[in-house]
Amino acid sequence: MAAPEDLKTLADTAVKEISAAADEGALETLRVRYLSRKDGLITSATKEIATLPNAQKPAYGQAVNEAKRRVEAALEERTAAVRSAGIERSLGQSEDLTLPPRRVRLGRLHPISRTIREITRVLGTLGFEAVEGPEVEFDYYNFEALNIPRDHPARDKFNTLWIGNPKGDDPERRVLLRTHTSPMQIRIMEQRRPPVRVVVPGRCYRFEATDATHESIFFQYEGLAIDEQLSMADLKGVLYSFARQLFGGERKVRFRPDYFPFTEPSAEIAFDCFICEGSGTTNTGRCATCGGAGWIEAAGCGMVHPDALRRVNYDPSKYQGFAFGGGVERLAMLLTGTPDIRLFHENDLRYLESV
Ligand code: FA5
Repeated sequence: MAAPEDLKTLADTAVKEISAAADEGALETLRVRYLSRKDGLITSATKEIATLPNAQKPAYGQAVNEAKRRVEAALEERTAAVRSAGIERSLGQSEDLTLPPRRVRLGRLHPISRTIREITRVLGTLGFEAVEGPEVEFDYYNFEALNIPRDHPARDKFNTLWIGNPKGDDPERRVLLRTHTSPMQIRIMEQRRPPVRVVVPGRCYRFEATDATHESIFFQYEGLAIDEQLSMADLKGVLYSFARQLFGGERKVRFRPDYFPFTEPSAEIAFDCFICEGSGTTNTGRCATCGGAGWIEAAGCGMVHPDALRRVNYDPSKYQGFAFGGGVERLAMLLTGTPDIRLFHENDLRYLESV
């Protein structure tokens, strides 16, 4: 059995060895030698306390604790010193300037972002201000205020993704993911007085099967103009000018009647398919991009319905307006020659970097 003085000598030796340790490996060996639970030298001395006569226990116990404290403190201090010396050393190492530099991958705008910028730029030249609106929307703005009450058959067209109703069961406050950007027509008119001229790009959601021209998450751009004496001729002029600026004279434009409950009269605008050049067929059969139609439907449009104007306290005998809502991806397909809308959202960089 060791005496208290022996423990002091043991600790002196340990502290000396620890201060001389060159690296973390050597420190670990010393920690095991002195403090390991199984047979560390100081641990063994601790175990001996129980075997001593009661009178000797306090002095010996105190000596063991003191030795342990000194060894632990020395280990901690030396470990910190060894580590920071290591960092200093690696910082001081010189670089090999002959190594080739790491390749920097430059980011780029996604084709959909580029198209949104192009749409807002072109419409900006025609006086439209770009604004944004909420993707999570109330039933009221997405449907009711656009003359699509509950049970209206037009709701079938918009396969809606509903969200829980955080405001209780008030039917006017039911919450959904907007199926189009048209709710912003109402929001804007609520906030502003004519003249109004805005373009609203943004994400829309529909629960639908995807194909070459349909995604369940896609972007639209909504145009809205309200003023005195606006007519269908202004609408057509803006859309044709928009198409010319985007495509030059390259694409044929088809403008024909359509139906939307919130515009009267309503129309639809389409461009001839760039894959089959409007014929509806390719050498492998029916054109997969336009589904054989020869046309790619680009936007719905029309004169804002007087009911919608009245709902926001605009006087329909004084103000008229037109609105249009088109698919951003459809334009991006035409602009980049992308035959399938899904290529935009699959996130395959090999494709995205090529367009
Ligand atoms: C609408 O969404 C109306 N809000 C458009 C409108 C606005 C009419 C203003 C009158 C006045 P529609 O469901 O047809 O209409 O969609 C408009 C355009 O969005 C389509 O022509 C198409 O270009 C695009 N689109 C619609 N559904 C999808 C989809 N699932 N994936 C990609 N693009 C789509």
